[in-house]
Amino acid sequence: MDNFTFHNPTKIIFGKNTIGNIGEEIKKAGYSRILLLAGSGSIKANGVYSQVQHSLFKHNIEVFEFWDVRPNPTLEHALLAKKYAADNKVEAILAVGGGSVIDEAKSIAVSVGIPNIWDVFEQKVVPQKALPLFVILTLSATGSEMNSFAVLSNEKELKKWSFGSPLVFPKVTIIDPAVQMSLPKRQTANGGVDSLSHLMENYFMGIDAEVTIAVNESVQRTIISQIDKLHSEPYDYNARANFAWCSTLALNGVTSVSMSGGEWTTHGLEHALSAINPNVAHGEGLSVLFPAWITYVFKSKEFIFERWAKNVWNTNSVLDGVQAMKDKFKEWGSPITLKEIGFDKSDFSKIIKCVQDYGRLGRIIKLDTSDFYEILNLAY
Ligand code: NZQ
Ligand code: ZN
Repeated sequence: MDNFTFHNPTKIIFGKNTIGNIGEEIKKAGYSRILLLAGSGSIKANGVYSQVQHSLFKHNIEVFEFWDVRPNPTLEHALLAKKYAADNKVEAILAVGGGSVIDEAKSIAVSVGIPNIWDVFEQKVVPQKALPLFVILTLSATGSEMNSFAVLSNEKELKKWSFGSPLVFPKVTIIDPAVQMSLPKRQTANGGVDSLSHLMENYFMGIDAEVTIAVNESVQRTIISQIDKLHSEPYDYNARANFAWCSTLALNGVTSVSMSGGEWTTHGLEHALSAINPNVAHGEGLSVLFPAWITYVFKSKEFIFERWAKNVWNTNSVLDGVQAMKDKFKEWGSPITLKEIGFDKSDFSKIIKCVQDYGRLGRIIKLDTSDFYEILNLAY
């Protein structure tokens, strides 16, 4: 087992009727002037916004609201939000939403003192300070609520890239699984696929960290059983709660300890898909690509893929495991081919160029243009 440092400073407040704690948490931390960042309004429809407003008002916190963060959030919108935050001299940011809202909030947070946020994504600048971040999570999927990563799309340059900095771990995150009952079925399925993908990106790097591999595969099995329940019973609180915690564990460091930083090729490929077509949800792209990537690379490290097929999918071969996963994704209503999400073979070279501009991919085996072409072909 490799040496490691584990440090996750995010405080999690989890459970029914916990959103009302946000005002007290922000006040206790010493802030009274904040930016509230949100998406297109689902938080007004499901009552989250009024709970937040009430709690902030009760604790005399002055609030500056900035709305319309888009799924697959953009650099352009983040720059507008950054200016609004600076003009109003906010002391902290409260992100209320899913991964897109949280990631844009992280990007704004580190932009303090950096003229061009994109330089952070290009790894030209290492952030030295950040505004403190608080989160109310409304969609369990990305793990952004308890990690140090953010993903943003630079539409002009056709890049959807990520950065990581310990400065952007949220100070406090509130997860009330009950507010996820308003999610459309499609988003619940996307959350399941994304969380499973985070686990797999790390799992397949496993060699001798038995404890991590065992915890990781158990969380994978739990996600499958809980999303199954939610598929037929979206109002099952226990299934929402169990899945929500699995999703956080899938990318908060616990299930990736001693896994060499993970694989992440499938995520890189998916980010290219949603950079080219922002209507493709992250979970949908992964649902199409993960089975194809496994099919292409498993022979290079067969023992761990065989273990996954047996312990996660209860099958006797990797290809049977892949088939079981595809069947499950299909049952949840997720797409399993590139065609279903609007891509044609003529798009392959554009996708591959995006992936290669990003670089940093292909750890289990090094992948070149022809390998990426074959993976996309398998996903077609
Ligand atoms: O616009 P709003 O009103 O917020 O509606 C959202 C959005 O339309 C809606 N929604 C959220 N909570 C809801 C709800 N609708 C009804 N009831 C609720 N309780 O769901 C839609 C999708 O939201 P979004 O935030 O885009 O989804 P998700 O959480 O899947 O985030 C995806 C983004 O995160 C990135 C993805 O690439 C993508 O850009 N990722 C971030 C990671 C990270 N920071 O660690 C890792 C991931 O691998 C991923 O790359
Ligand atoms: Zn993901």
